[in-house]
Amino acid sequence: MGRTKWAFLGIVAVLALAGSGMMAAGVLVDSGGSDQPIAFPHDLHAGKNQIPCMYCHYSADRSVDAGIPAVSTCAGCHLPGSKAGDARAVAMVRPDSTGVKQLTAYWKRGLPIPWKRVYNLPDYVRFPHMRHVNAGLQCQECHGPVQTMRVVKLQQPLQMGWCVNCHRQRGSRTDCAVCHY
Ligand code: HEC
Ligand code: HEC
Ligand code: HEC
Ligand code: HEC
Ligand code: HEC
Repeated sequence: MGRTKWAFLGIVAVLALAGSGMMAAGVLVDSGGSDQPIAFPHDLHAGKNQIPCMYCHYSADRSVDAGIPAVSTCAGCHLPGSKAGDARAVAMVRPDSTGVKQLTAYWKRGLPIPWKRVYNLPDYVRFPHMRHVNAGLQCQECHGPVQTMRVVKLQQPLQMGWCVNCHRQRGSRTDCAVCHY
């Protein structure tokens, strides 16, 4: 815990030092290689501003899917008046930024944001998030330090051996029918 915290603070410090220069160069608002419809920065949300993963991926502990937040979840913080009574909203709005302008456009048209999947298993594999989260595994064990990532990138090849190795180590089931339909 302590180590993670310090590593995290170190990264924030580096970002703060480099901040003004990077802003001027447009690095911070660049998608950084992301092909997502909006350059959504995990580091600013989950790192710098400490928004819990499950504020957005709300179903990770009770459903097969972790869930991708709807536009209305973003609106609660970025569009004033969209969620009355959210005290944090005022300080958090960044209407000036390219990303939030794009977000506002989706909101106004009532359209979902067509996020592209990063982690995606073949259809014949069963992966229940809630079983893993409720067994006490951290998101980071499989997804890496997302709170430091400007763009979420695949951290695991998602091969069968990866799943089976961990199941063996932890004494979880490894018969074929556990994971295959
Ligand atoms: C709980 C509040 C909260 C929610 C929910 C939230 N954001 Fe943010 N967002 C913030 C804060 C705070 C910042 C400012 C980060 C900073 O600069 O420190 C931010 C920054 C951003 C930025 C970067 C703005 C810039 O500086 O270029 C984008 C883009 C963005 N959010 C998009 C989204 C999208 C899309 C969603 C929904 C998937 C979302 N946000 C949900 C609080 C929130
Ligand atoms: C403010 C909302 C918000 C918070 C907080 C947040 N996420 Fe996300 N997350 C998103 C959005 C929007 C996407 C889709 C866009 C993208 O891939 O960046 C996403 C995508 C992801 C993906 C890739 C999903 C895929 O397509 O396969 C992973 C993994 C992920 N988040 C993990 C985390 C973890 C772990 C945390 C906490 C450390 C976290 N997220 C915090 C909004 C959020
Ligand atoms: C044991 C490994 C593991 C853990 C722990 C884990 N994930 Fe995942 N996650 C995966 C795999 C594998 C996929 C791909 C699932 C698929 O395609 O069916 C995935 C997919 C996702 C996605 C894409 C959308 C979805 O619903 O499938 C999001 C978002 C996500 N994870 C967020 C999280 C968050 C947040 C946590 C912690 C609360 C977490 N994950 C914990 C392995 C894990
Ligand atoms: C880091 C360790 C880890 C990884 C990686 C992992 N799992 Fe698991 N898995 C667990 C644990 C722990 C449980 C919970 C066992 C329990 O509840 O008794 C579990 C449970 C499951 C279950 C429910 C088993 C049952 O008894 O019904 C399925 C299905 C599953 N995992 C599939 C997968 C798949 C598919 C992958 C790879 C994409 C994967 N897991 C990767 C640790 C892991
Ligand atoms: C803990 C989860 C898990 C268990 C247990 C498991 N698999 Fe898999 N299996 C996967 C995942 C994830 C994939 C997809 C990724 C890949 O191809 O490696 C997969 C892929 C496969 C494939 C397709 C490989 C390819 O190259 O297309 C076959 C065949 C397969 N599994 C057979 C089995 C058999 C037979 C067993 C029992 C001896 C078994 N699996 C047990 C998770 C599991």
